Amino acid sequence: MNSFSFSKDSLAKIDTILTHYPPERKASAVLPLLDLAQRESGGWLPTPAMEAVATMLSMPFIKVYEVASFYTMFNLKPIGKYHLQVCGTTPCWLRGAEDIMNTCKKHLGIQKGATTDDGLFTLSEFECLGACVNAPVVQINDDYFEDLTPEKMVEVLDDLKAGKSLHKGSQIGRQCSKAIDPAKVGESC
Ligand code: FES
Repeated sequence: MNSFSFSKDSLAKIDTILTHYPPERKASAVLPLLDLAQRESGGWLPTPAMEAVATMLSMPFIKVYEVASFYTMFNLKPIGKYHLQVCGTTPCWLRGAEDIMNTCKKHLGIQKGATTDDGLFTLSEFECLGACVNAPVVQINDDYFEDLTPEKMVEVLDDLKAGKSLHKGSQIGRQCSKAIDPAKVGESC
């Protein structure tokens, strides 16, 4: 991508975001602006998008790049339509995260950090996603899939591939993060 400009919609959002900070501190808006730029660039941050953020916030490009390269939610190279972010931290690991990762690798035929040839899936390992109580957890784009098993993971991947709408959150019918009550399985939050 050789050039980047924010859409009208994003520019309106940016106007609102900038009201949250004193004008001399507008660099504090770098995270939400990078997020908007990433969403407009197909899930990653090409250099022109980071340059646009730097110009808008009167920041040196390197400062914007430092932020973008520090936070794992920003991608500095193109990713697939679905970014599978498999949590590998201890609670998820104890509840089978390794099996989930291996299932994704085997079912998609790719290794960690790679994208499928059809451009649909990118597979990454992440640190704690903050939903440990429903481990193991995989974040796919903006959504969480919890209480996963290898079988459920395969179903999720196949449904995504088929363009079906998915049940997000707990995959075993758990309500929010409550203890599993067999009588309540199936109720949603
Ligand atoms: S350890 Fe996986 S969500 Fe916290």
